[in-house]
Amino acid sequence: MDKFYTTTAIDYVNGAPHIGHAYEKILTDIITRHYSQRTDNAFMLTGVDEHGIKIQKTSASLGITPKEFCDINTQKFIDAWKLLDINYSRFIRTTDEQHKKAVQKIFDKLLKQGDIYKHAYKGLYCSGCEAFLSEKDLDENGLCPVHKKKPEVVEEENYFFKLTKYKDAIIKHINQNPDFIIPSFRVKEVLNQLENIEDISVSRAKKNVSWGIDVLGDDEQVIYVWIDALSNYITALGYNCEENSDDFRKYWSADVQVIGKDILKFHSIYWPAILMALNLPLPKHILAHGWITIDETKMSKSLGNVVSPEGIMKSFNLDIADPLRYYMASAAPLGKDGNYSDDDFKEKVNAHLANSMGNLLNRTLSMLDKYFDGVIKEEFINTPVLFEDAKKTIESVKHHFNFFEIQEAASEIIELVDKTNKFVTNSAPWALAKEGKMKECGEVLYAVLEVMCVIASLIYPYCPNIAKRMADELKYDITLKLDDIKLNNIKTGKLISKEDIKPVFLRLDSELADKAKKN
Ligand code: MSP
Repeated sequence: MDKFYTTTAIDYVNGAPHIGHAYEKILTDIITRHYSQRTDNAFMLTGVDEHGIKIQKTSASLGITPKEFCDINTQKFIDAWKLLDINYSRFIRTTDEQHKKAVQKIFDKLLKQGDIYKHAYKGLYCSGCEAFLSEKDLDENGLCPVHKKKPEVVEEENYFFKLTKYKDAIIKHINQNPDFIIPSFRVKEVLNQLENIEDISVSRAKKNVSWGIDVLGDDEQVIYVWIDALSNYITALGYNCEENSDDFRKYWSADVQVIGKDILKFHSIYWPAILMALNLPLPKHILAHGWITIDETKMSKSLGNVVSPEGIMKSFNLDIADPLRYYMASAAPLGKDGNYSDDDFKEKVNAHLANSMGNLLNRTLSMLDKYFDGVIKEEFINTPVLFEDAKKTIESVKHHFNFFEIQEAASEIIELVDKTNKFVTNSAPWALAKEGKMKECGEVLYAVLEVMCVIASLIYPYCPNIAKRMADELKYDITLKLDDIKLNNIKTGKLISKEDIKPVFLRLDSELADKAKKN
């Protein structure tokens, strides 16, 4: 594997990011960080989708320009991703000049080759979806099923993209590549949608919507959101229809494009059709994640239950995002909906990260200090059975990530932690020390510390800060690639002094955590 290119959906900037937006960025960051342990060239793209009628209307109501409004809100997304340690390689804004120019060229090329044509049209427009809906898409009350709003009747002359021309090719691609759409339980839904597709409007009349990218050579039309938004995945790499950049040649096609289930149609039908029209290869996988609810309720402004990642970080006084990242990553099996609740969050991260994982390292190092003054002796070194388990876990974690089973991979890691804890309990190094069996005692501690190195590497994509703290205490190189992890990471000699043994993660809400934060 010589590269791994991941993308997220680009968020609308009508408001501040919430935990649903954060969920997707966390999943994608975890995937990318995991693949950075398997290739030197893992590249993650994220960004914001800034055009559209909603931005135009909201900014007007605030008496500022759409660009000023976007600047304010885009910064909130940038800040949130920084707080969550989202290690993206590039952040695209659809108002970036380079993107706008490339979209104009893409549109122009499709127009010239006959894939886009002009057509008078009357349709039902949902501004929540920023898309036209057909009667069949509506629910029994005539509302958009996602936004529960009555679509607006819009009568305009628009440019249309010949989606229907690509219908058969897309069906063929989906059938020949059963893992193109992940999870597979969504494939049928997409094939059903394909049955009824029509050509799609890709522009709006400027008199009605002006906040968009101008159509070259047509003063009356702006390119409308989906062709603008979807193109970000290639324009961010430098694709512009003419000479394409080194990054584009190196990274396209995407290895996985992570999106929410609500925008699967756009990514598994519209996007492949656009790529086919541009004669470009399709992404390898489209991963549609489920939705995050709060206390089992859908988040909505009207219910006042919109939870932000900063809010959670503040209310638990967190200095690192690792617990939230870990929790979100294990919130749901692949593609299924998940839930956030404060109590569950606290319970899960305390149990897994503090009690099981953090304590294991802490008490092992404390015993090494107590019995051996923190020194690893030559005679401790063995090939412990436990290390075979650790190697198996590396393979199963890789296997899960091949299918983007992020929650399942996390469970494997915690299972290894539990096994190691059991090993300590069963071997009772404290009893061995009491009986004067110092070599055996040292062997147990060494075995555990070797496995802790593996655990640090495996947990790194989820909890990069905790993993680094663990690696520091173990004097272990956290940048090792997964395939290069061998036994003997723990070197002989003094490993650690008493004053350097610190908990890598403090229980949420514990007095210790509060005290540590006050200092
Ligand atoms: N701008 C479009 C995407 C264009 S991609 C070329 C869009 N924006 S969005 O802000 O509405 O949503 C961005 C992403 O966040 C989508 O993948 C969406 O599914 C996801 N989520 C928004 N709310 C969510 C939850 N409550 N839970 C999980 N993810 C959800 O759609």
